[in-house]
Parts: sequence; structure tokens; C-alpha cells
Amino acid sequence: MKIAIIGTGHVGSSIAFAMVLKGLCSHLVLAGRNMTKGQGDALDLQHTLAFCERPIIIEASTIEKVQDCDIIVITASIKTQDQVTSRMELGVANVKLFRQMIPILAQNNPRSIFVVITNPVDVLTYLVTQLSGFPSSKIIGVGTLVDSARFRTLLSAQEKIHPDDLRAYILGEHGPNQFPVFSNAFAGSERISDAPSNRRIFQEVNRAGFDVYELKGYTNYAIAAAACEVIKTIVYDDHRTMPLSTFFYEWQGIENNCFSIPVVLGRAGIIRYLHPELNDQEKIALQKTAKLMKENIDSLLGSDSLD
Ligand SMILES: NC(=O)c1ccc[n+]([C@@H]2O[C@H](COP(=O)([O-])OP(=O)(O)OC[C@H]3O[C@@H](n4cnc5c(N)ncnc54)[C@H](O)[C@@H]3O)[C@@H](O)[C@H]2O)c1
Repeated sequence: MKIAIIGTGHVGSSIAFAMVLKGLCSHLVLAGRNMTKGQGDALDLQHTLAFCERPIIIEASTIEKVQDCDIIVITASIKTQDQVTSRMELGVANVKLFRQMIPILAQNNPRSIFVVITNPVDVLTYLVTQLSGFPSSKIIGVGTLVDSARFRTLLSAQEKIHPDDLRAYILGEHGPNQFPVFSNAFAGSERISDAPSNRRIFQEVNRAGFDVYELKGYTNYAIAAAACEVIKTIVYDDHRTMPLSTFFYEWQGIENNCFSIPVVLGRAGIIRYLHPELNDQEKIALQKTAKLMKENIDSLLGSDSLD
């Protein structure tokens, strides 16, 4: 299993470290604009192998030389400015960066699954689907997986139940246009209600990334763990369910859009969509999300579309 990480900044290098500790591949390629940083990371990671699960070939590369990968994880991004208030602020520059990077990566890695981390992740997942020409099942945005994990962690502290025993999804945008699905949220078999205290937890999740950002200038650990969960599920063909960003022609009556919906993930990528029964409030939130996401996509990508 050959996996490349494009961009070795805070997020890319944290994913690489977590992947090596977990032994998620046999060959890891670190690629980016800054070859020296990639080489430094590769060498440092090689020195951890004596403490790791399995031998791994770890090397640095230019983007142009990344080839024949099974999975490509994209974290390359323009620098986030201080006082960032929206992930959409990265949009114009990252769309330009993706238009340069993705065609060559797709051409040299025709059987790869792409895992998109860079923000705004939903618009960029759409763009990678468009630029690669690959089936949308093979282009996966990490989307609201991190938000849902934060949601479960905060709810777990309140319920005093292990977060892994909680099922609670946040769907929609990895950003302000997201919504919690309380109608299908459970701790054990007990429903997690749409109570004011749980709504407050959702509001907290909605700004959690920015809270971390204000304290240390970036987020890396939760996203690295989330990315590894996606990668592990693909590598071991686990058929796990999770909310992920994907371009879809139709989901729950919404057409030609790209944001996080619940899916089943395995070695082939997204195997199928899940269709939870949403309540009226959630159906309204879904319609609103779909409209705003379409506006975000149109504003950054213009009239290009996959319709
Ligand atoms: N989806 C999520 O849940 C989530 C969570 C955290 C961060 N992110 C996003 O991940 C991205 C990376 O965050 P970070 O903190 O690692 O940023 P960073 O600035 O530390 O790293 C970005 C990396 O991209 C590289 N890069 C920049 N321009 C490039 C180019 N032209 N070609 C190749 N590489 C280039 C840089 O050299 C750097 O290594 C950001 O867009 C951030 O918003 C997403």
C-alpha cells in the first residue's frame, strides 16, 4: 500500500507521524513545495521505525514525481492568516493551487483514492472530483468527521459514556452551514435528545476549530486522527460508517452538491450513502445547507459544474 501526503505543514506531518505509528502503509511519500522540509520529516520518521508496528519505506518527493499511489492525502494549502474567521477565506488561493496540482497527481496516480483535508474542504472535494475525472466515490473530503468526533467527545463528557459508544453525526459543511442530527443520535440504545444543553454543545463544536486556532495558530491532532481513521478504513476495507464530504448527484432529494453525508467506506472508496430518516427541523437545515453550499461552490468555481 503506497500512500502520499501532499503538503508537510502542521497537518501533513502530524498525519504522517500517526500513520507511521499505526503502520498504515508499506510505502509513504511526503511531497510538497518545500522539498527540504519533506526530506527532514522523512529522515526523522525513518528514525522512529525501530519503535513502530512494521517496516515502511519513507521518502520525500516533488509533487510531479508522486506516482502509482493507492491513496493521496491532500493537505497543501496557502498559509492561514492570523484572525481568520472563515475557512472560505482560503478558497481563492487554494482553488488556484489545486488547479495546478490535481491534474498531474490524477494523471500519475490513476488508481488512487484522494483524501482531501485542505480548506474549504467541501468546495475543494468538488473541485478534485471535477479536475481528476475520477468517480466521486474515490474523492473523499474529511468534512464533518472531525466535527462529529468533537461532538461525540463533548457529549460523552456530559453523558459519562465512552465517545465510541455514542452515535451522533454532524452533517453539511465543515464550516458554519452544518447541522446536528439529533433524531438519530444515541448513547448505547438511548436517544440523545435535542435539549438546550445538547444544542449548546453543538454550538461549541461549531467554533471548536477556531478556539484551538486562537490558542496555538493551527489544528493538527484531531484532524490527523480523523484522517488516519479514513485511511485505515480504506486500507483494511472495513466498511465503516462515517460522515464524509463527497460530490453526489442525489441524496435525500438534494441534487448535484458536495458536503458531508453519512456513507459506508471501504477499499473501493465510498461504497454507498446512508439515508437516515431526518425530522422536519433537520430537513429544513439540510435544504438551507444545500443552498448555501451551492452558493459557496459557485462563488469559488464560477459556472464550472458537474451537473
Ligand atoms: N478538513 C479539516 O478538518 C481540517 C483541519 C485542520 C486543517 N485543515 C486545513 O488543512 C490545510 C493545511 O493546514 P496546516 O495547518 O498544515 O497548514 P500549513 O501552512 O502548516 O501547511 C501547508 C503546507 O502546504 C504547503 N504548500 C503551500 N503551497 C504549496 C504549493 N504550491 N505546492 C505544494 N505545497 C504547498 C506548505 O509548504 C505547507 O507545508 C489548511 O487548508 C487547513 O485549513 C483542515
